[in-house]
Amino acid sequence: MKQVVKAPPALGGEVSPPGDKSISHRAVILNGIARGDATVSNFAQSADCLATVACMRALGVEIESSKGGLAVKGVGDKGLKEAVDVLCAENSATTMRLLAGLLAAQPFLSVITGDRSLRSRPMDRVVQPLRLMGAQIWGRCGDSRAPLVIKGGHLHGIRYELPVASAQLKSALLLAALFAGGDTVIKEPIASRDHTERMLRAMGAKIKVEGDTIVVSPSRLKAVDIIVPGDISSAAFWLVAGVIHNKADIRLKDIGVNPTRSGIIDVLKAMGARLSVENERLVSGEPVADIRVQSSRLSGLEIGGELIPRVIDEIPLIALAASVARGKTVIRDAKELRVKETDRISATAKELLKMGADVEELPDGMVINGKERLRGAACESHGDHRLAMMLGVAALVAEGETEIDNAEAVNISYPRFWQDLKRLSAATL
Ligand code: S3P
Repeated sequence: MKQVVKAPPALGGEVSPPGDKSISHRAVILNGIARGDATVSNFAQSADCLATVACMRALGVEIESSKGGLAVKGVGDKGLKEAVDVLCAENSATTMRLLAGLLAAQPFLSVITGDRSLRSRPMDRVVQPLRLMGAQIWGRCGDSRAPLVIKGGHLHGIRYELPVASAQLKSALLLAALFAGGDTVIKEPIASRDHTERMLRAMGAKIKVEGDTIVVSPSRLKAVDIIVPGDISSAAFWLVAGVIHNKADIRLKDIGVNPTRSGIIDVLKAMGARLSVENERLVSGEPVADIRVQSSRLSGLEIGGELIPRVIDEIPLIALAASVARGKTVIRDAKELRVKETDRISATAKELLKMGADVEELPDGMVINGKERLRGAACESHGDHRLAMMLGVAALVAEGETEIDNAEAVNISYPRFWQDLKRLSAATL
């Protein structure tokens, strides 16, 4: 599907983006192996999270749609069953990596695959440490790519330093650790999103976090009802739209502002954004707030290091904001972007260049020189949801018309994205 977008005279109103994708996956997986029933409200009904639901159902967990969410009947720590067919994680690396950790500890055989993009992404980062825990696990390309074949069994605890700051890898090991004989000690190079740790604690797992080190002892979980906050990575499209459009005032309700995820707020503020975080509170163990953004004059900046995992999914949007900011922006230490749903460094640079931006690729980031204006162009999502949405936001401030091909990619995380864009574009401020 092609989507055509033109810059509206004003951009405004209130928007509630879908439930957080990362938290939705975890709420279904952890409640699925817990004892008892739980509801997951505001579950992200997007393709990635539905792939997790389908896999957990295939493993014997009853999951029903309930008003505004899901009802999950936990099967307990010994209740999962061998699936009768290959499990499919579709486009979702979170599904594949987290389930690899879980399945490595189950006494049966599993085969898990995904779409073409997911089959090209690195899986050795989970295969290697799971093998150190005693798992039998194989994949294509020297055990580095899906499909993965997992002959689950008895695991033992390990001490492991993660070679990359990846919450998917960390969570895969945390899940395996619940079933291991003995403690597992995981050290992170840089803090990554901590939703799994928070949820495990709420479910009664024996987990201790001291600085950069997490210690998990074998644990049984008890089911917990979860209210999923709005996804900051989806809200981020409107945060950037609001600050770069010259007549905008947007309010976002009930957004997750977990500090391991909220780097986009810090980056936009450092660029000069008029952005306020209001009504901060704790919901289901996660910080949640309302956010207001208004048209702003942005300046370029340099980002890298410890900030990167806190903005990893928002970097294409930061590149867009930088493209219309005053001065130069340098993004470094983000080479993980090259192994996301697409190579997001190359795809972001390629598409923004078509719109007249001044973007140069670095091996681990980008250098962007801000311009007065972008111009509409025929662009391509590369089948990547975050690219499709970033280009939709770029079109809101570009001269003329922008055409985004493969625009249906938004279904991966934000199926209502184009409707919300139309609604905000109809504002009269
Ligand atoms: C996620 C972790 C991040 C992020 C992805 C979701 C998660 O990936 O980019 O969108 O839910 O754990 P990595 O673990 O590869 O950094």
